[in-house]
Amino acid sequence: MSSKEYLEALARKYLNEALINERTGNKIDAAKNYRKAAEIMMRIFEYYRNSPMSDMYRNIAESYIKRAQELEEESKESISIGSGNRDEINTTNLEEAVKSYIVVEKPNIRFEDIVGLDEAKQAIMDSIIYPVKRPDLFPLGWPRGILLYGPPGCGKTMLAAAVANEIDGIFMKIDASNIMSKWLGEAEKRIATIFRYARNVGEKKPVIIFIDEADSLLGAYEHEIGGEARVRNQLLEEIDGINEKGKKHFIYVIAATNKPWKFDIGFLRRFQKRIYIPPPDKEARKQLLEYYTKFIRLAPNVNLDEVAEKTEGYSASDIRDIVLEAYLRTIRELFKSGNINGEPRPVDMNDFIAVISKRKPSISKELVKLYEQWAQNYGATA
Ligand SMILES: Nc1ncnc2c1ncn2[C@@H]1O[C@H](COP(=O)(O)OP(=O)(O)OP(=O)(O)O)[C@@H](O)[C@H]1O
Ligand SMILES: [Mg+2]
Repeated sequence: MSSKEYLEALARKYLNEALINERTGNKIDAAKNYRKAAEIMMRIFEYYRNSPMSDMYRNIAESYIKRAQELEEESKESISIGSGNRDEINTTNLEEAVKSYIVVEKPNIRFEDIVGLDEAKQAIMDSIIYPVKRPDLFPLGWPRGILLYGPPGCGKTMLAAAVANEIDGIFMKIDASNIMSKWLGEAEKRIATIFRYARNVGEKKPVIIFIDEADSLLGAYEHEIGGEARVRNQLLEEIDGINEKGKKHFIYVIAATNKPWKFDIGFLRRFQKRIYIPPPDKEARKQLLEYYTKFIRLAPNVNLDEVAEKTEGYSASDIRDIVLEAYLRTIRELFKSGNINGEPRPVDMNDFIAVISKRKPSISKELVKLYEQWAQNYGATA
């Protein structure tokens, strides 16, 4: 072994130790090990000052020192809060910590507020709702990881929230794009904390951990040089923990994405159930129109069947916006007429036609094909 190889191996050893320390919450030792690894990297840099690789060693050393400094700062903070040892944090503190960076709530959306999506709803009943209500009927266990995929604005987020409500559970929403930007450096630790909290409360109450825009987690993974793979691996490890056989808890991880093709097999394997949330077909669009016009006065010439016909390629959320925009036209007219205490006129067919002509559908046929193809290869509804 050359002396350079020897030094590199030694640096790797300290780095590994630092990573393990970090994982177990031992910030002080992690910082020490990062500093040792950095010192060795700087020695390699000195030896190879004139080689084209030298800059790389210095950059790596600097990144280790930066991490060490962050950890030293953090460990000061946690000591001053009064609890240096992570395992001693009690549930209330844990709850407060989790609530300070994600929304933990009981949403008020119910299944009946979600129009259409009958197959998706049934798949969710089978894999979440029935097992929660009658675990004794599922001796072989049930899936804990569920992936919802499909075009934007068709109800993925709504569905996940409604599930939590139907099982009277706790809904913990993690925005994956936040993890990668706002949680810089903290992401891994926060994921661990979220799951720890879920395990605590999950013994008494069902918990849905919802990872919205899950693909942004992997997007970063593709280009990453250092830290972000740890975030992904932490998440996969936590999911494995939840999937462990024989566990009787009701903790579910639901991930949503509109780019399912970005996931690798390792990630997909953890989501045994993969459910397509399709754009609304004509019947569903008609139902959406009926749902969203329920509280709006319609002129007799409005034919919702025809509006449904004209809105192919529009998402559920587009349909909602079309109704609102059509209604808004009558409000605008009222205000412009000066009769601000009067009633708006009913929405008529012209309003719908005018709004639709000014608005492009957000889901193309090509996009739908991509989902259907992916569903054929990787879908797992049953
Ligand atoms: N099936 C549906 N029934 C009723 N309203 C819906 C439905 N799908 C979507 N909407 C309306 O559209 C809004 C956006 O839907 P949602 O956030 O669930 O879409 P999404 O599939 O998660 O989209 P994205 O991929 O962009 O996150 C909802 O708040 C709701 O107002
Ligand atoms: Mg969403």
